Amino acid sequence: MNFLEILILIFSFLINFSLSSFNIPQIVTQNDNSIFNKKPIKEIKNFKRYEPEWESLDSRPLPSWYDDAKVGIFLHFGVYSAISYGSEWFWNSWINDKNPDYVNFMKRTQNPSFTYPDFAASFTCELFNATEWAEIFADSGAQYVVITSKHHEGFTLYPSSYSFNWNSVDVGPNRNILKELSDAVRKKSMKFGIYYSLYEWFNRMYLDDKFHAFFKQTYVNNKVWPELQEIIHLFKPEVIWSDGEWEAPDGYWKSKEFLAWLYNDSPVKETVVANDRWGMGILCKHGDFYTCTDRYNPGVLQEHKFENAMTIDKKSWGHRSDAKIEDFYTSEELIKEIITTIAINGNILINVGPTKHGTIEAIFADRLRDMGKWLRINGKGIYGSRPWKYQKEGNSTWFTMKNGEERDSVFIFVIDYPYDTNTIVLKTIGNYIDDKSKVKLLGYDEDIEFQLIDSKSAFEIKFPEKRFIDKAGLFAAWTFEIDIPKKN
Ligand SMILES: *[C@@H]1O[C@H](CO)[C@@H](O)[C@H](O)[C@H]1NC(C)=O
Ligand SMILES: *[C@@H]1O[C@H](CO)[C@@H](O)[C@H](O)[C@H]1NC(C)=O
Repeated sequence: MNFLEILILIFSFLINFSLSSFNIPQIVTQNDNSIFNKKPIKEIKNFKRYEPEWESLDSRPLPSWYDDAKVGIFLHFGVYSAISYGSEWFWNSWINDKNPDYVNFMKRTQNPSFTYPDFAASFTCELFNATEWAEIFADSGAQYVVITSKHHEGFTLYPSSYSFNWNSVDVGPNRNILKELSDAVRKKSMKFGIYYSLYEWFNRMYLDDKFHAFFKQTYVNNKVWPELQEIIHLFKPEVIWSDGEWEAPDGYWKSKEFLAWLYNDSPVKETVVANDRWGMGILCKHGDFYTCTDRYNPGVLQEHKFENAMTIDKKSWGHRSDAKIEDFYTSEELIKEIITTIAINGNILINVGPTKHGTIEAIFADRLRDMGKWLRINGKGIYGSRPWKYQKEGNSTWFTMKNGEERDSVFIFVIDYPYDTNTIVLKTIGNYIDDKSKVKLLGYDEDIEFQLIDSKSAFEIKFPEKRFIDKAGLFAAWTFEIDIPKKN
């Protein structure tokens, strides 16, 4: 080795040393699009620094946009969308579980040497138009969109510096899906979030760490940390939806350190919300909002903000061609799911599985359009609302409330039409109204008749004639608004 080589070696050692003393990845964070350079809204007042301890992290106030937004769209999009069979767990079901259904599917459709990564070539997205997607989502009434930046298969929807040749620019669509979608979503004034699977079924670094009982952290240090930070610098997501955490403790994932960085020093520290999937046993205990189980809708008031992440195709998150018509939520069922979630302190994240062509199938678009129709009329009782003292009466009537300047509003959602009587009788609300209280039906112009029965123990609301309701375009669930005095 000559003198020059030694000099270069020392120099590169010094550079590496000084860079590795920061946790920030060595990437260019400047983005060409002006939308990314917009200063984040200062959501969190009295900003303080957080320690990498759950007690400190849990003391962070929830950025208010999230509790007001209520409705989001979830997208599962990846190489599994190209196979479109069974579910997004295809690779695992086929190779790890050796599930006969999947093994036979491969025998029927491919030659024996065909591997899962070979499917990436048919993940073409030739019809993908992010503006069209954003229009569909905005029309649905959704306020935010969360997409899989990387699912358990490891394929990233942007040219990750840590996923060479297993990303949407190097193979498949040859497009930066995250960039196109985040731009389009923000142009429609919705928030953009990313789902990120911590683990990967077949990543050798991960499997080796697992083999060493997670005493090694090669995968976390060289993949998860730098990649997550790269995504956050590039796309400034307002939601971090972590998943794939359950095999290893939060200490292995360095989750507390990551969240402290996210809340203290990341470019989205004032607006970002993170879920609860940060390590074995953390689910439903820590995080800005809890997801607990998939499709979590527990039916009773939750003290901590939660999110019901559910799927329009009841059996899969990713697109699948083997779905039957009865596997899809009807519009009425979807709207009821929204109401019963919001009433108990939840947000709802409604999942759509786009096709490998980059399109949203008509059945998903239909459900989203109906949801939008309903929310345009009834959204006053949804967006920005809070749970009321009571969340429901019986199984057909649900409540939310809003604080007003002079008087508060209670919203009553009737999810089964009272065809027999054309009236509803409620026991909960009579004691909260006064002489000034009026009842309105959202989307209907005239005041609604009501009366107290048995000195306030029951309150009866009379629906207008059903033909007038239908003519006004009201459907699926009917919302009454009652103004009540502020309680002092
Ligand atoms: C994408 O969709 C938008 C909205 O429908 C349309 O205006 C635009 O022309 C489309 N872009 C392409 C490349 O087709
Ligand atoms: C409400 O729903 C629950 C759970 O589905 C059921 O057990 C109960 O009987 C229902 N109550 C009424 C009054 O219909």
